[in-house]
Amino acid sequence: MSGVRVIMPSEMALLDGINSLRSVRKFKPDPITDDKLKTVLESASKAASGSNTQPWEFVVVRDAKLKARLKEPMLRTWLARLAGSTGMSPRMRDVYDEATEMLRNTETVPIIIYCCVDLSRVGKSEEVRYASIYPAVQNLMLAAHALGLATCLTVHGSTPTRGEPEVKKILGVPEHVKVACLVYIGYPAVRLGHPKRKPIEKFVHNDRW
Ligand SMILES: Cc1cc2nc3c(=O)[nH]c(=O)nc-3n(C[C@H](O)[C@H](O)[C@H](O)COP(=O)(O)O)c2cc1C
Repeated sequence: MSGVRVIMPSEMALLDGINSLRSVRKFKPDPITDDKLKTVLESASKAASGSNTQPWEFVVVRDAKLKARLKEPMLRTWLARLAGSTGMSPRMRDVYDEATEMLRNTETVPIIIYCCVDLSRVGKSEEVRYASIYPAVQNLMLAAHALGLATCLTVHGSTPTRGEPEVKKILGVPEHVKVACLVYIGYPAVRLGHPKRKPIEKFVHNDRW
């Protein structure tokens, strides 16, 4: 019984965190302490990975001038992509407008973490490679959320058409390391409601499709 009393509250807190995690794109300029950042990164490192290879590498960027340099290829490629997109719904347009504004404000975001995979430490299949980094990224975002911080995952700088070559050069990321995504982190300047998602009946198949 004592085990139940200890375990239940923390289980509830974890589920609350999962159920309220949102992508926040407006941040206060308040700095994040080293202690909090350490907790966030340690939480990321507890994730599962293929054969426990732990192929993640995180580049933590705090320097505003560096963020401004990184922004250039990410914003340029994003705007080029937007220019070519047609027939967007108003809701999607709103999300893209917010995404663009966050990207334009990159220098003012307290911390940006480039989440990378060391390809020399993980199997050759694309699926296993990415499946070995995203659990860590989700842990990172949940831990930040638990500490009152907000996050937004983006894939800017993570593919050849999203400025990855320039981003890697600026950060000095070696050839055998792939940028998987990045996470903007800061104290939220906005309060968002719970995530809007499809009900499970729409996508759960029992026993067979
Ligand atoms: C693989 C992936 C790529 C994403 N790329 C971007 C992005 O480039 N820019 C952005 O602002 N948000 C990005 N997001 C955040 C999504 O837009 C967001 O999760 C989605 O709109 C749902 O909103 P919510 O998380 O607030 O519920 C990305 C999320 C994922 C998982």
